[in-house]
Order: sequence, then C-alpha cells, then structure tokens
Amino acid sequence: MSDTSPADTWQLSDTEVFSRYGNAFVPRRSEQTGAVCDLLEGIPVPHVLDLCCGEGRLSEEYLRRHPDARVTVLDRSPEMLAMAAERLEPFGGRYDRVQADIEDRAWRSGVTYGGVMTSLAVHHLDGEGKQVLYRDVHEMLAPGGVFVMADLVEPAGPAARKLAGDHWDEAVRRASEEQFGGDEAAVMFEKTEWNHYRLVGPDPVDKPSTVAEHLDWLREAGFVEVDLAWMYAGHALFTAKRKAD
Ligand SMILES: C[S@@+](CC[C@H](N)C(=O)[O-])C[C@H]1O[C@@H](n2cnc3c(N)ncnc32)[C@H](O)[C@@H]1O
Repeated sequence: MSDTSPADTWQLSDTEVFSRYGNAFVPRRSEQTGAVCDLLEGIPVPHVLDLCCGEGRLSEEYLRRHPDARVTVLDRSPEMLAMAAERLEPFGGRYDRVQADIEDRAWRSGVTYGGVMTSLAVHHLDGEGKQVLYRDVHEMLAPGGVFVMADLVEPAGPAARKLAGDHWDEAVRRASEEQFGGDEAAVMFEKTEWNHYRLVGPDPVDKPSTVAEHLDWLREAGFVEVDLAWMYAGHALFTAKRKAD
C-alpha cells in the first residue's frame, strides 16, 4: 500500500491514489459504507466520530440518513480533511473537523459520542496500539453507544491469505472495468503493491491483526455484542457495543 518509512506512514501520494482509485480499490465499498451505517442505527446520541475519515464518505452517508445527526471527522492529513469538508458542505454545520494522529491520545478525552466509525485505518496501529484504542473508544462512547470498524485483517494461515489476495485482485479488476472502462485501476493497484496479501514479509506500514485478536481485544476492552458482521477479500467489519446503563 505504501513504500514509506515507519515514522511517516501515510503520504500525499497515497492520498492522491486513494482519492482517484478508492472506489475500485476498496472491495464492495458502497456495500461496506451502507453496512457501517446500518450497524449504527439506534445509537443513544446522534453524534458520531469518523476516525481517519479520509474524504468523509462514511460521514456523508451517515448524515444523509440522519437529518438530525452530527459527525466529527478526524484525520491526520489536511488534504483529506479539506476533501471531507467539501463533501460534507451540503450538510451545513452538522460536522466539525479535528486534525490529529490516530496514535495520539489527546483527542480521545473530554468527549462523548453515540457512535464511533472507522474504515481502513486501525491497521496502521500495532497490536498494543489497537488494544489501547479499543479501551479509549469504549470510554468515549455513551452507554449503549456503538463502535463499528471496517478494516483489513490478517489471515490466520497461508490458505486464507491466498484467498483474500485472490478475491481482492478479482474485485479490483472487476471494479476497474466497471468504473474506468478498462484496467487503469487494476494496473495502479498492482503498481503500488496495494494488495497487502501479496507482500512477502512484515510491512512496517500496514499491521493488520487477525479476526480472533480483534474480537478478543474488543471484549477485553469492555464491549458487549462484539461481532464480525461482514467480510470479503480480507476486509472485515466489526461491531461492538458499550453496555447500556
Ligand atoms: C485508506 S484511507 C481511508 C479513508 C476513509 N476512512 C475511507 O474509508 O474512505 C486512510 C485514511 O487514514 C488517514 N491516516 C493514515 N494514517 C493516519 C494516522 N496515523 N493518523 C490519522 N489519520 C491517518 C489517511 O490520511 C487517510 O485519510
């Protein structure tokens, strides 16, 4: 996905590539977006944090569905936040922006949300970082609040890894034809080595964890109704709830 140093994990070139090809690179993206919003139905407070929001696509769908709701979009990249602001412009004042690093903890205190959603970002944290994040997100949620996470996961063995890689290539090839009328996106996907499951050896940038680890860590953080709600091509959607009082 990137050839950057561990100290600086997401570069402008990634932003440019992702904003042009994201709809083709993310398998069944609109289905995932819809499922994230479905899982946030009925949250106790209509205010959702979109963690590592990118261009704000999750927020756009959430706000479209809920005319009385607010979102807070958080990302480290000013370019991404600017794109999110443009996308969310039609929703007037129903969003605010935070520029922060997912690893920092300052943004995690002093606020309460009814829901936290995130897509394709938590895999930048190592195992310890994910566990700390899950504990902090649990504390940030109102009782009955829901955390929904879409992300890459690490297959538990080589057969599942190969299948994830094959399905991802296949999904991008199909999307490339549909969206670009040819192999433009598929060629870029290969050139940028975006398919994590084709990489040999550990990647300093992308550090996905297994489904089992995520489920354990979410439960250990105090969440209930922890589940894997959807999965395809190595992309999984988790849901977890803070117990209602
Ligand atoms: C693959 S994009 C996903 C964007 C969006 N969630 C989506 O699904 O369309 C990853 C996003 O995470 C942001 N990001 C990467 N590393 C980050 C970090 N350490 N802290 C905060 N944001 C980060 C990037 O700027 C980018 O917007």
